Amino acid sequence: MSQRTFSIIKPDAVKKGYTAAILAEIEKAGFKIVAIKKIGLTKDQAAGFYYVHSERGFFDELTTFMSSGAIFPMVLEKDNAIADFRKLMGATDPAKADEGTLRKLFASSIGENAVHGSDAEETAAFEIGYFFTGYELK
Ligand code: PPS
Repeated sequence: MSQRTFSIIKPDAVKKGYTAAILAEIEKAGFKIVAIKKIGLTKDQAAGFYYVHSERGFFDELTTFMSSGAIFPMVLEKDNAIADFRKLMGATDPAKADEGTLRKLFASSIGENAVHGSDAEETAAFEIGYFFTGYELK
């Protein structure tokens, strides 16, 4: 069944000029890009997005990094989008990511790992709503 997920091309990948290559892999894998924009987060906005990780030791590093440059948040659609995008993305640590995954191809470290993808339906709903309003999601 068709499903939507949420993704971000993170500041490291944008700075390295990987945006178009990542979008090409995403489309090649069968995802439709429903919505996309280029923005820059404040550290507080990054903290709001990652609130579930606020007690983790890496929270300050994560929110500093995610507010360090432009990002491309986007909404993607296909059958089984959430699980399939997690597969396409690969493991959080690029050193452990499978060949051909986005993180294997484009990420440099566990902290600067090129892309984000929602991990569940409820998370996807929160994350899409954090960045996009109804009229942007036609
Ligand atoms: S968990 O436990 O599965 O929710 O955690 P995980 O998905 O591995 O990580 C959650 C997000 O935190 C980022 N992360 C880190 N950032 C900086 N330093 C370290 N050590 C670190 N470990 C994890 C990770 O990239 C995840 O970000 P998103 O954007 O959700 O992929």
